[in-house]
Amino acid sequence: MELKKIEIEFIEIANINELNTSDAYLVAKAREVANNAWAPYSNFLVGSAVELMNGKIITGNNQENAAYPSGLCAERVALFAANANYPNSAVKTIAISAYNKNGLSKMPVKPCGSCRQSILEAELRFETPIRLILDGQNKIHIVEGIKNLLPLSFGRDDL
Ligand code: THU
Repeated sequence: MELKKIEIEFIEIANINELNTSDAYLVAKAREVANNAWAPYSNFLVGSAVELMNGKIITGNNQENAAYPSGLCAERVALFAANANYPNSAVKTIAISAYNKNGLSKMPVKPCGSCRQSILEAELRFETPIRLILDGQNKIHIVEGIKNLLPLSFGRDDL
């Protein structure tokens, strides 16, 4: 028997001012689009901005439903729209921002398990790691590749 350990890594910065111009723009877009979320049940408004290798930026926000499981997270709304409209362009970066009843989330937004799995699919599809910028008012986390958020993942090579 052997205990195995997996290391994950991410970069922590203080705020949006520490991002380079294009990353700051992407986060600004995620914040902006969060305001258009349809989230009357949770009142948790999430915005996501996906930057593609071709330079396009596609945004999305959470879309809730009275039949709760029929809703979809912001990340997947943005990612699926990006892949649907630009099927040949790899995803470079995804920024995620959220607002709760107190305003912009203080802590970095953590994507749910299903979104992590969908981000993994996009990585494998284009054979390119995706950078995640998890926005928060008091700190921002930058994650270089979904393997850091989804270790021991199940992908197409496991089929
Ligand atoms: N949500 C997202 O859109 N992304 C996340 O990363 C976390 C959760 C949404 C789903 C639901 O509409 C609301 O936030 C509360 O869970």
